[in-house]
Amino acid sequence: MKTDVLLGLQWGDEGKGKIVDVLTPNYDVIARFQGGPNAGHTLEFEGIKHVLHTIPSGIFREETINIVGNGVVIDPVILKKEIEALEARNVDVQKKLFLSKKAHLILPTHRLLDAASEAAKGKGKIGSTLKGIGPTYMDKTGRNGLRIGDVDSGKFKEKYQTLVQKHLNHLSRLGQENVELEELEIEWFDGIETLKQFQHIDSEHTINNFLKQGKKVLAEGAQGSLLDIDFGSYPFVTSSNTICAGACIGLGIAPNKIGEVYGIFKAYCTRVGSGPFPTELHDETGELLRKKGNEFGATTGRPRRCGWLDLPALKYSIMLNGVTQLIMMKADVLSEFNTIKVCTHYNYQGQKIDYFPYEISPENLTPIYTELKGWQQDLTGMTSLDSIPQELNDYISFLENELQVPITIVSVGPDRTQTLMREKVVV
Ligand code: GDP
Ligand code: IMO
Ligand code: MG
Repeated sequence: MKTDVLLGLQWGDEGKGKIVDVLTPNYDVIARFQGGPNAGHTLEFEGIKHVLHTIPSGIFREETINIVGNGVVIDPVILKKEIEALEARNVDVQKKLFLSKKAHLILPTHRLLDAASEAAKGKGKIGSTLKGIGPTYMDKTGRNGLRIGDVDSGKFKEKYQTLVQKHLNHLSRLGQENVELEELEIEWFDGIETLKQFQHIDSEHTINNFLKQGKKVLAEGAQGSLLDIDFGSYPFVTSSNTICAGACIGLGIAPNKIGEVYGIFKAYCTRVGSGPFPTELHDETGELLRKKGNEFGATTGRPRRCGWLDLPALKYSIMLNGVTQLIMMKADVLSEFNTIKVCTHYNYQGQKIDYFPYEISPENLTPIYTELKGWQQDLTGMTSLDSIPQELNDYISFLENELQVPITIVSVGPDRTQTLMREKVVV
């Protein structure tokens, strides 16, 4: 068997959590491959709304195994809270959740370093979620990190102290002396005790064995392709590889073991945090998208910046990921508009281009739009694509023609049931 991958094609928050939950009945295993609690994946069903940060979005289905892969960074405090929230809903997390021994740990001092680094950047700040993501991946690549597997070793506390001392030295260089750690450490070690009760696995072996046995595995991405550390709008990115290749690294799956790649995008576009966003709207249309789309961050509550769909950016993401099926989210939010704009090209330093260039700041680049007719009809109660308005059909056909990849799922509301399947998704 091959592993299918579902990932975001924009700047995150495309609706990955919802669709992974919808697709989970087709899979035996759901595995997160990168990122950490900077992610906020929202699921809604039976009147319940749930936000997951570290735990894969397959956790609510009875028979599914959920793996946090080696590419993920884990904050024990946040993971403990997630586990408790699920257990309060009678989810048997212990039975279904497995942690890679090679996943790195976010320390309290990583969070402090994240905040200090952002403060030092001033106006040029990334707009980080302040969950310690950047500093933790820096320690990983700097070969200083602590991993889940270390928790079980007799030298764990010693290793922890060595790393904390290094962080305190760094914080003092950033002007932060006398850091008060006691309370933060109490809750952190409390979280570690909780994590000890879960199975720590060599997830690369587990997943490859599952594939050999013919089990179906879906890799769940976090963030979005335009936040990728290599290909995103650097330096306004996250610190991991969010693209499909990240699933190989973050789970130990060979590239020739990747099957379907589901690329998920909103029918418009959003971004949270700093950095260039070519199609961003600073007017009442942007405000309306934010209001109707309820565009406020699932992790930080920050208002998301909103704008029209950006096809050169989407084509770039499709290319980087080898997307085989597209999933379009939040079509219902566009019901507000008479006319819908789509950016098909950029005016880049005086030239009309249709690709995503190195430099995407507003001084260098302005979007060129095509206008399409809106449908102004409520979609949220629709159960089949047969009944959707002609204008929405035209919007879908236009995008498929431009992007040359089929749109196989259209989402018309946050609930599990508000999902319109256009074709059979999984073989
Ligand atoms: P993720 O990080 O990619 O999982 O996405 P988030 O959960 O951060 O953000 C997506 C938001 O949109 C959540 O609040 C979802 O409940 C909501 N949502 C998902 N699909 C739809 C949809 O089709 N229509 C509407 N109106 N909301 C949706
Ligand atoms: P999900 O998985 C949207 C953004 C932050 C910031 C930048 C760096 O829910 O789609 P970091 O905390 O990683 O150092 O922040 O990346 N960001 C996200 N934006 N969705 C996310 O995750 C994000 N995770 C990080 O806002 O601009
Ligand atoms: Mg999110």
